[in-house]
Amino acid sequence: MMQNTVKTAALTETAEKGKTPWWKQAVIYQIYPRSFCDSNGDGIGDLAGILSRLDYLEELGIDAIWLSPVFRSPQDDNGYDISDYCDIDPIFGTLEEMDSLIREAGKRGIRIIMDLVLNHTSDQHRWFLEAKKSRDNPFHDFYIWRDGDGTRPPNGLKASFGGSAWEWVPELGQYYFHCFSVRQPDLNWENPLLRQELYRMIRWWIRRGIGGFRLDVVDLFGKEPDREITSDGPGLHALIREMSREAFIDPELVTVGEAWSADTESAKLYSSPDGAELSMVFQFEHHLADREAGKDKWHRIPVDFVRLKKILARWQQALSGCGWNSLFWENHDLPRSVSRFGDEGPFREASAKMLAIALHGMQGTPYIYQGEELGMTNIRLPLEEYRDIETRNMIRENREAGLPEAWIRQSVFAISRDNARTPMQWDDSENAGFSSGTPWIPVNPNYREINAAEQRKRPDSVFSCYRTLNRLRKRYPVFTDGTFRLLLEEDRQIFAYRRENAGTSLLVLCNFSGECAANPLAAETAAGKLLISSYPDSGDPGVLRPYEAGIYLFERQKEE
Ligand code: NOJ
Repeated sequence: MMQNTVKTAALTETAEKGKTPWWKQAVIYQIYPRSFCDSNGDGIGDLAGILSRLDYLEELGIDAIWLSPVFRSPQDDNGYDISDYCDIDPIFGTLEEMDSLIREAGKRGIRIIMDLVLNHTSDQHRWFLEAKKSRDNPFHDFYIWRDGDGTRPPNGLKASFGGSAWEWVPELGQYYFHCFSVRQPDLNWENPLLRQELYRMIRWWIRRGIGGFRLDVVDLFGKEPDREITSDGPGLHALIREMSREAFIDPELVTVGEAWSADTESAKLYSSPDGAELSMVFQFEHHLADREAGKDKWHRIPVDFVRLKKILARWQQALSGCGWNSLFWENHDLPRSVSRFGDEGPFREASAKMLAIALHGMQGTPYIYQGEELGMTNIRLPLEEYRDIETRNMIRENREAGLPEAWIRQSVFAISRDNARTPMQWDDSENAGFSSGTPWIPVNPNYREINAAEQRKRPDSVFSCYRTLNRLRKRYPVFTDGTFRLLLEEDRQIFAYRRENAGTSLLVLCNFSGECAANPLAAETAAGKLLISSYPDSGDPGVLRPYEAGIYLFERQKEE
């Protein structure tokens, strides 16, 4: 085994800069490997494809790559169903290629964050195959089983991808528990032997040179299914602290906990600066700012803007000095941000840049999801062409329930996870330069207009805007350390806030609407230095054009 134990000069230098951990000043780029770049023409992106695009990522100026799972997997949920934690799935490449990726990225100052799915495995994992053999198999207790007679599951808990969370195994006379698909049985975190196995595997990856981990659905680890508790179980934080002590052996590591259920109080535990649990929390409250509460995600109503601002501001204030948040609009489970929060039409570029500015000005670690830096949009496919297990199950269940086709189509277009999973748009050649074969999912037809090759050349592109933001973060510590104050709270078009630190302050001003807005802060902006804008030219200072956004810098004069 080739171990990447030697840290490259670039990484060590960042680590030694000072007390602030590197990941507080970092920008993280998420790669969904299956859709990023295909090197061998089988239509599926792979590790060699990622290796071939490292220059692009270096140019963008990111510090770490969060790699969605590349472990061996039957791909029931595109890799979030792992059958071997210590091997790479052949569709993505080999362990040697993973080592090269760690090494080559390291040379460019980029760390690799693996996506660890520890809440469940694939039903093809050796542990589960053993566990199913008999009740007294040593691996049986690695999973969650309850007796029954096959006619009625132990309780009414539902799986996230539809149906009951309990699956009957007649040979054993038992049900097993699964929060997601039937092919993703949940691990039994109450079993100390299981936990030790997981920690051993994590340490193995750390010794291979991995820079960190994103922990899939970390909030589910402490579940108590008998009491119908799935997230935030009473033992959750003790489990995370144990994992942190025993597995996260490298102090340089970044650890990110995905937690749909997190509120600001639990977030302070997850991401406490004493490092007892994780580096940061990855929570979704700002994605739940719909105009009407209480609807499931397929029934989303357009965003309630004032509510969104207040949620963002509340998180900024609550975690200041006592926790750390992830900043993101997109990931592989969410629709494209221009389609949800901005404009897919004439203001696509302005709104994509506005969203970038609004997000990157806040405190926390910003994430860029592949293609977000180009302003990629949602896709609309015939329903048979959707690939995502969640979307397919939803279509089937709603058809069975007799819901109108038009309603199903509308929900899928708005929410399906496949919106974010269409191939990365590299250039205007066939298949957007993603693959020489047939892509596993159709390329968005707008790739001739929206692609990386075109945007890299253009100083006013969305790509250039992200690049500038990444540089500004490195240059001005106020982006990392500054306090946050929401301005114009009730304004229905403008998101404005101040960041302030040691004599330097930023004013971030964003018009979130497709209409012009009077600029109530014109006198202030006139006195600041404009660092970045979503428009290439300056307009009337008293008016913010549709989706116009800017960051203004104010520096106190240094005393002689
Ligand atoms: C959260 C992941 O982000 C999602 O893609 C996956 O389907 C579920 N967890 C199950 O692992």
